[in-house]
Amino acid sequence: MSLAFNISSLLIFVAILVGVALHHRVRTHVRIMKVCFTLDVLLLILVEVFRGAIEKLLGLEPSTVDGTMLAVHVPLAVGSLVWWILQLRSGSRILAGRRELLPRHALHARIFLLLRLGNLVTAFLLY
Ligand code: HEM
Repeated sequence: MSLAFNISSLLIFVAILVGVALHHRVRTHVRIMKVCFTLDVLLLILVEVFRGAIEKLLGLEPSTVDGTMLAVHVPLAVGSLVWWILQLRSGSRILAGRRELLPRHALHARIFLLLRLGNLVTAFLLY
């Protein structure tokens, strides 16, 4: 099950990179990023439901994986979600004409990609 989750996460990450690379084609960029956001949230929900990530982190459920790695992995997942929301918000504002937010959107894109990559790598290390 976790390999299927990790491969899904990898595929979503590749789609995110494609979406970022196509940022000049605004409609395509927005569409791809919104689909990736939806898939990422669905994946987070599935991982929580089937693997109880948060319960394991809090020690409420026995864990078969490396606790230290999980303690790095889960905050990266939460961070990715927070940065998704920041990007959705700034992206919508740029679309509404607030072009001055573009540099911030680009800066937060880098932070988001680092968090999301860290989440992906630690997921494979946990497997
Ligand atoms: C984590 C998700 C996202 C990432 C990593 C990302 C990344 C980027 C990057 C790197 C740029 C180019 C910035 C520049 O030229 O300096 C960009 C532009 C843009 N993004 Fe996003 N983006 C994301 C999500 C979104 C979303 C959800 C929306 C809309 C709701 C959006 C709307 C835009 C718009 C309107 C532009 C300007 C395009 C242009 O006119 O050249 N982005 N994005």
